[in-house]
Amino acid sequence: MKKSLKEEITELRNKIHYHNYKYHVLNNPEIPDYKYDELLYKLKYLEKLFPHLITNNSPTKSVGGISLQNIKKINHIIPMLSLNNVFNEKDLFLKFFNPIKNFLNKNNNNFCCELKFDGIATSLLYKNGQLIQASTRGNGMIGENIINNILYVDDIPHKLQGNNFPPILEVRGEIFMTKKNLNILNKKNILNKQFANTRSSALSFLRLKNIYNDINYKLLNFFSYGIGFIKNKNKLYSHIKTLKRLKNYGLPVSKHTVLCTSLKEISFFYEKIKKIRNNFSYNIDGIVIKIDNFKIQKLLGSTSHAPKWAIAYKFPPQEKITILKNIIFQIGRTGLITPVGKFKTIKIDGVNISNASLYNFNEIKKLNLKIGDVIVVQRCGDVIPKIINVIKTERKNNITTNIIFPKTCPDCKSILKKKSYNKSIFYCSSGLNCKSQLKGYLKHFISRDAMNINYIGNQLINKLVDINLVKNSIDLFNLNINTLNKIPYLGTKSILKILSALEISKKTTFTRFLYSLGISEVGLVTANNLNNYFQNLNNFLNADLKDFCFISGIGKKIACNLYKFINDKNNLYIINKLVNEIGIYWNNTNIINNFFYKKKIVLTGKLTTINRQKIIEKLISLGAIIYNHISKNIDMIIIGKNPGSKLFKVKKLNIIIINEQKLIELMNKN
Ligand code: IVH
Repeated sequence: MKKSLKEEITELRNKIHYHNYKYHVLNNPEIPDYKYDELLYKLKYLEKLFPHLITNNSPTKSVGGISLQNIKKINHIIPMLSLNNVFNEKDLFLKFFNPIKNFLNKNNNNFCCELKFDGIATSLLYKNGQLIQASTRGNGMIGENIINNILYVDDIPHKLQGNNFPPILEVRGEIFMTKKNLNILNKKNILNKQFANTRSSALSFLRLKNIYNDINYKLLNFFSYGIGFIKNKNKLYSHIKTLKRLKNYGLPVSKHTVLCTSLKEISFFYEKIKKIRNNFSYNIDGIVIKIDNFKIQKLLGSTSHAPKWAIAYKFPPQEKITILKNIIFQIGRTGLITPVGKFKTIKIDGVNISNASLYNFNEIKKLNLKIGDVIVVQRCGDVIPKIINVIKTERKNNITTNIIFPKTCPDCKSILKKKSYNKSIFYCSSGLNCKSQLKGYLKHFISRDAMNINYIGNQLINKLVDINLVKNSIDLFNLNINTLNKIPYLGTKSILKILSALEISKKTTFTRFLYSLGISEVGLVTANNLNNYFQNLNNFLNADLKDFCFISGIGKKIACNLYKFINDKNNLYIINKLVNEIGIYWNNTNIINNFFYKKKIVLTGKLTTINRQKIIEKLISLGAIIYNHISKNIDMIIIGKNPGSKLFKVKKLNIIIINEQKLIELMNKN
């Protein structure tokens, strides 16, 4: 039966309310932004045609978000409005550029174009230059108090610079998380939870109840994009000049801000940013165009929802909707089973995508995923595509089928086991007897950072394992012209290249060798730390569980992996053969005679002239052992700008303190 107009509008409203709730309250949106915008647009359109059907609770009448009940509220002095969106130049002209031109009867307006950051809209209130209040946008009228959580934002000044600031200044901007920090957060599992995007991770930090005064938790950043309430605004008349002023106060302002006077210039800026958007360290979802002159802004005014003097010109979505066709279960190098969703091919940012990792079994349950479901897939820069949601309202029960989790390994058919630390992670315990794991291990073994064996690619590894020519890494070195001749596509020239590459690879380093063993969760940095700590193979193979725990970057889990590995007879057999029969060797690195050798070091504060990660790598290569926390076992602390509480602790203990300049001097000596 066809729905009445009233029913259709009510349904639309309920849908929007539901998605508002998912987005703003649960921090778990179900549909991509553009789908939400479509719903809102449709509702606005219908309400415009049939105004008698508008109700007081219509979502078109509120700014957007709903604020949480249990978080302290803050009333905004001036409402924090949202922005209207357009997705193409035609709409930009029709809905923004042209109406403004007509209204002002003027052709050459100044438009300030800036990035549209994908984070959490925030208001910061400074009284006499001191930060006294911070809140999220909430529902536009009332926001959530986040003053305690500002601690997690790396670059919000608690005090404004200089002394030329107004007595009361409300700065508005966006708190966000960089893509790199999202990776760190997920990799280190800092909040004991995996996040799908930088927006939800940023919001979770702002809602954290416990205060962690640790550098690891400073994973948020801020960009100012305007002002709200200000006492003595009279001297300010231009938006772009205001941004410059904010920058002088010490507030972060994006440098990608330009003044344009024509649609052509705006489009040029938009296209330029669209092209380079994936190079930014943070996510942006479009540009924002604002009339620069405050007097003209005032003249144009606002609706209850959004200003008429500004608009968001959004990029086409990097999230798309498709249909889940199947789930396959991949076996990783260490036997972990990863479900991978196969879906109808979609193109995101010019790239065809038809599958995405689902990480573990829990992820499928969490999404409540079924085969045949309409799903939302997201691709963010170079990040692996991800199924982020199921559109439940589109589910057709007669078409969808449940996903059946395998009980046995899809390759070797052995019974799957669950990891003791996480019952939703399954693995095949057959080790290298499982061909999939053997292939994964050998691909790792030959890779550039490991044994670096050229001319043997992944395809050849698959073939060698499939025809049972190679059953472990030793067999690789026993390949010869006769055996390699069994591979149909290999000519004599290639075979000779492969054999000499195998020979060349035998001279390696202890770090590379350790890394090539493929011990679960032992990456290159940990391998390097193991090299520095143990110095030789014998020490490593005779280590005790507690020895591993002393090494930087090694927690209980990795220590157990290492201990288990060196106590496995088969592993010892392979290591022994590789070193004593095949002849893999390395020289002990000459690092003993340097200042940092075996020093236990903590870094704190911001290093201004050198990249922190590079310094850590360099120190490790000089034999240093890097720690995160101060204790009496630490030998040295390296301090940057704003060193924080660590320095305070150090002063009580007897630890060498060196600053950035001294660090560079000492490093140059080595
Ligand atoms: S101006 C009244 N400028 O976009 C003006 N907003 O979709 C409102 N946003 O709530 C904001 N970058 O959180 C403005 N350069 C920018 C922005 C920006 C991101 C966010 C902001 C706002 C949302 C509206």
